[in-house]
Parts: sequence; structure tokens; C-alpha cells
Amino acid sequence: MSANLNQTNIEIDDPNFRAVFQNLQGNILKGHGRDHSRHIFFAFKGDSDQNQQVLNKLAEKVTSAEAQHQQQSSYKQTGQAHLFVNLMLSCSGYQQLGIAPKDWPDDPAFRAGMKDLQTPFDTLPRGGHTPTANPLNDDISQWESGFQGRIDGMLLLALGGMAPDHAERTLTAEVQALQQTYDDNLELLFVQRGHVMRNDKGQVIEHFGFVDGVSNPKFLFSDLNEEFRNGGYSRNDPSAPLNLVLVKDPGGNPDSYGSYVVYRKLQQNIKGFWDRLALLANHLSENSSSPIDAEYAGALCVGRFKDGTPVSEQGNDGWSNLFNNFSYDDDADGLRCPFHAHTRKTNPRGDTVRQFNSPPTIERSRRIVRRGISYGETELSPEQEWTDAGLLFMCMQASIVDQFIFMQHTWCNNAGFVRPGTGIDPLVGQAPADAAPPPQQWRSGWSNPNASTTDFSFAGFVKTQGGEYFFMPSLDFLQSLG
Ligand code: HEM
Repeated sequence: MSANLNQTNIEIDDPNFRAVFQNLQGNILKGHGRDHSRHIFFAFKGDSDQNQQVLNKLAEKVTSAEAQHQQQSSYKQTGQAHLFVNLMLSCSGYQQLGIAPKDWPDDPAFRAGMKDLQTPFDTLPRGGHTPTANPLNDDISQWESGFQGRIDGMLLLALGGMAPDHAERTLTAEVQALQQTYDDNLELLFVQRGHVMRNDKGQVIEHFGFVDGVSNPKFLFSDLNEEFRNGGYSRNDPSAPLNLVLVKDPGGNPDSYGSYVVYRKLQQNIKGFWDRLALLANHLSENSSSPIDAEYAGALCVGRFKDGTPVSEQGNDGWSNLFNNFSYDDDADGLRCPFHAHTRKTNPRGDTVRQFNSPPTIERSRRIVRRGISYGETELSPEQEWTDAGLLFMCMQASIVDQFIFMQHTWCNNAGFVRPGTGIDPLVGQAPADAAPPPQQWRSGWSNPNASTTDFSFAGFVKTQGGEYFFMPSLDFLQSLG
């Protein structure tokens, strides 16, 4: 029987998917789970034959979905840590391999590259949008120089399950070894170092101090079952069919699938963010009978408190703060969680159904699979603004145009989503370079229809330092090269 990509709740050892999962790269259906990583950006140096041979050799290092699962089982049994490796190519990478354009992955944004500010946005099967130049509102002149140049591919190495300095040293040695082995064939352009940060409960956090990585689509039944730790899934179904994240690999055999990867280096201004939250809290307190603190103002920005509790659910006791079993059905007017909150913009949990009568399946098909990791200093209360701290944002999807770009452009950057006057996402919304973002509306009381609302502009604490669109091909494709 061949693979059915509409299927949900499968298992990694499902015999019907064996050939697919042997051939599919890991980290797509399930995160690799390691706390330390290196993202090695490279450009090919040779002619197309030589470039193909290099890639064929590099393919030996890549971890398949099946191998990832075996590594996980072996780690549980023996405690032995394993290096995890992903390999992805940009469109220029396909060009350098001498592959004919008809055989490149066909997402228009992938083909254009992230630096192309004319990414066509009118070719959507699901949308019918008008063409938009620069859909992400990026200012590429401000990007780090490495990201401004040609990037052919990226190799992701990840390691965990050992002392942090041991993992770091091992990864540094791996990068050096790669540099030596491939010096004649690959230019290692630059390397990003990622590391997971945790709070005192061991939960993953990002640099503003909020618990991160809670809500993600779940492809495997065992992962869906894990949701019972976070309150179950009666009110929010995180399961997802494989075709949310997989597409046929045009270069592989009938069992070959790949996924598109969006990579963004997002610097965070931690001090600026918390100073502005203190101002917002003062502002809201002026109109409230009880004082409002910066932590609460932060929850109105993010949609969750720092400990992960959804702001829409804060009145309910007894749940894990990583609670994910909620929708906004009981908060249709945004009285508890503002429409502009980051988690509500990026996963409206029914808002588009209520506002636009859009079918629920369309909203669910916009979901992305987040696999990012923090970078830089670990200080969560720096004295300076714009320290070397941020998120190496990575997400995977079946369509960059219909999923990531739609989410960033039509939801986060759109002050009119989900209602006129909502404002942009205060965390990651980007207004056009020549326009100040309009203020968001903030309520001084929780779930109180009579609470006063104030306009306050909150934006600009996350800066894009660069990025690229990639395709993570099947192993079969990589092995067939050369
Ligand atoms: C959720 C932070 C960038 C999409 C979250 C959460 C936090 C967070 C704290 C809540 C925890 C969770 O549900 O996992 C950040 C920070 C960013 C950033 C600090 C930048 C530095 C982005 C970008 C996108 C995005 C660029 C996509 C355009 C999402 C999605 C969720 C999420 C889809 C899950 C929402 C849900 O299902 O409830 N983010 N994020 N994030 N973020 Fe971000």
C-alpha cells in the first residue's frame, strides 16, 4: 500500500510508511530534541558534477526519521547520545547541482528565495490574494552580511544528553572536521550556534523569558497522546495530516518526501521589550481599579504568561501551565486574550471561522511546524538593548507561501487582522519600513466587557537579521546524486 498523506495519528513504525520514513529526514515529524546545535551555511565551490558528489557524501551523515526514532530508543536504553544531522538546500543550491528547473521543488517563494522582495503572492491555490511585493516587510539592507550573500544550503548538527560544555566542544570539533574534509568543495559561509534555554522547572524558554515550544502540530499518535500532559485535546486538536508538512520530493523515488524550511535569525531586544511593557502596564493601570504589572502586560502581548498559562484561561485553576487544550470559543470578542496577542495571531483557534465564515480546515491548514532554537547570551535581564540574543526561528511546512508567508504577512503584519483596528503582532509583526505601525488596543480588565480600552503602540523588539527558504530533500534524492 502506498503512503496516504491525508492520514493523521500514524506511528513511526507503521509498516505502510516504512519506506517513506527511511527516506525522510528527521526533525520534521518530531523535533530532534537536542539542546545544542550548529547551523552551517554553505556555498558550493565546484562544477555541478563535483557539487553532486559532495552532497552525495554529506548524505551519509544525515539522520532519517526512522534513524531519529532508533537513536531516541537507544538513548533511553543506554544513555548514549547521538549526533543528529539535517541537510537542506536553497533554490540556488539546486542550480549549483545542475538540476533542471522543472525538477526543483516548485513553491514560488522557495524558487524566488527570501531575499527576493517580489515573491509572488497571487498564485495561491487556497487564497486568491493580490500580488504583494515584500510580503514579510523585510529590510534586507539591515541583514547580517552573510545572509545577504548567496547561500546554497545548510547543514544542521545537533547534540544533547550530555554535559553542555561537552556537547559544545563536540559540535565545534564536528564543524572543524567538516571544514577540513570539504575545504576544496564547499565554502562554509558562517555558522549559527543554537542552544536551548530552560527555566527553573526545566521548561524551554525564549529570551523574553516565556515558556516556548508548547503548541505544535502533532503527526504521530504517541506525540498526540503526550498532549494529555497539557490538558488533553478535547477543545483543541493538535493532530495534523502528513500533508501539512510533507510534499513529494521531485528528485526522489515514489516513497520520497521532503519539507520546506523557513529560516529566520530574529534578534530580541530584551531590555527594550521589558521597559516598554512597564510603560504599557502603567498606562493600563491608570484605567484600572487594580494595578497591572509588566508580567500581565507581557501576557497580553504573547497570549501566554511567562510560565506558559494561556491568558485566555487564567481564571481556571488546576491545569498544567503548559495547558494547550483551549480555543477562543469562549472569548470571541477578545476580552480575555487580545486579538493581537502573538499566539492568537499565529494560531487563531477559530477566529477566522467566526469572523469570516472561513472553513475550519483552511485555518488549520495554515499551521506551521516550529523547530527553532535560541542563540546568544543567556542573560535574561541585560543592561543594554539589542544584546547578542534571539531566536534562530525555523519552521517546516508543505507550502511556504500558504503557511509561513501567509501567517507572517496576512496575520502578524496585518493591523486589520482579525478585526479592523486589531494592530500588528506586538512580538513579530513587521510594518513596512516607511510606515509606523498603528497602535494595538489593550483592555484594562480581564473578561470584562465594560473595561476601558487604550491605544498603545507595541512593536519593534524583534529584528530580522537574515534568513533563507530551503527544501529538505529525501535521502534517496541525496544518495542518487553524483
Ligand atoms: C508560539 C515566542 C517568532 C509562530 C509562541 C510562544 C512564544 C513565542 C513564547 C508561546 C508558546 C508556545 O505555544 O509554544 C516567539 C518569539 C519569537 C517568535 C520570542 C521571535 C523572536 C515567531 C514567528 C512565527 C511564530 C516569526 C511565525 C510567523 C508561532 C506559533 C505559535 C507560537 C504558530 C503557536 C501558537 C499556538 O498554537 O497557540 N511564540 N515567537 N513565532 N509562535 Fe512564536
